[in-house]
Amino acid sequence: MIEHKRILLIISGGIAAYKSLELIRRLNERGATVRCVLTEGGARFVTPLSVAALSGGNVYTDLFSLTDESDMGHIRLSRESDLVVVAPASADLMAKMAAGLADDLASTVLLATDKPVLLAPAMNTMMWAHPATRRNRARLEEDGIGFVGPGAGDLACGEVGPGRMAEPEDILAAIEGALAGRGEGRLAAVRALVTSGPTHEPIDPVRYIANRSSGKQGHAIAGALGALGAEVVLVTGPTGEPDPPGARVVRIETAEQMLAACQAALPVDVAVCAAAVADWRVSHPANRKTKRNGAPPAALELQENPDILRTLSAMGRGRPTLVIGFAAETHDVVENAVQKRRDKGCDWILANDVSPDEGVFGGDHNRIHLIDETGVEPWPEATKVAVAAHLAERIAAAIADKGISV
Ligand code: C5P
Repeated sequence: MIEHKRILLIISGGIAAYKSLELIRRLNERGATVRCVLTEGGARFVTPLSVAALSGGNVYTDLFSLTDESDMGHIRLSRESDLVVVAPASADLMAKMAAGLADDLASTVLLATDKPVLLAPAMNTMMWAHPATRRNRARLEEDGIGFVGPGAGDLACGEVGPGRMAEPEDILAAIEGALAGRGEGRLAAVRALVTSGPTHEPIDPVRYIANRSSGKQGHAIAGALGALGAEVVLVTGPTGEPDPPGARVVRIETAEQMLAACQAALPVDVAVCAAAVADWRVSHPANRKTKRNGAPPAALELQENPDILRTLSAMGRGRPTLVIGFAAETHDVVENAVQKRRDKGCDWILANDVSPDEGVFGGDHNRIHLIDETGVEPWPEATKVAVAAHLAERIAAAIADKGISV
């Protein structure tokens, strides 16, 4: 898909710019031609020389450079590319794009282009969460600009949270999607429900029972379905993950609230239950904070939570065309997952190994076996974003086969 394609890579200012050097290398390996535009800020983080060395000399920095303009011209830069990628996309460049400013080579190319544009934002977590950046992102999405990332994690500024640029592997996957024209439309008429994150089951007003789910996989799936044009409702327990672009996000805490929110989102064509729902809740949570009083602590009485996956799978009329669950197992992963598919009555199970050695909980990678009625399909280990993109593709293919019944 990428071979022989012409990618115009705009590198704006941000510490993540070093990852763009790796991106150029990977694009070269796949047979793409890469031309680069470095903003003034970008050139403070990576040198034009290193970008030129990797891109075969194709690096442009100055809107008013006689050499660049006579040789290339900013209009030709855009015309002679198949896709424009901005990685890292700084808050400043996003703001310029949203406002239609054109005061340097990068922003001028972005205003002049009629090619698909993909942004990989990278910035401090407060900047990403700022209402101005959120407005700009929404405006750019309306304008048809694609996004990959950002992810959440340790940022170079020492803070933790959303803002970290997507990994080169994930940007490559998004580039492939954009080049294949898959970005928009393949799930355009499809409504999707995704559950994500843990649930919190209260013990008293300040304490709760929870689990280690980060929400990374579920949020990535909501984002990937949205990128294919699906209308996505994401029902999520408490996580540190940024809202996936375009999804309607419903925040809940308990399993019962999650079930009610899922039911309120119906009818849907596809339901992906990626949440780690607590199996049990405390039967009688205290209204006031429970205090120590020297006596042995009271035992907690637990009762079973509703099973959302099973409930959705067992719906008669109005059942989603495709109901997909996860099986997080620490041993006999595939055998248990095959059994789980039968027990829950869902169409597909994505099985993953969550034994501590695998580092799946909270980590960025996942190794999946997809189990459907025909058997078991092992997927190569990949980032959670890449797993989500692959799943969204599979869903699009299955929906095309089955048709949409809602
Ligand atoms: O039974 P177990 O928790 O292993 O099943 C995992 C699958 O079932 C996941 O897809 C999870 O989202 C879903 N599930 C659910 N409601 C529950 C428990 C699990 O939707 N109460």
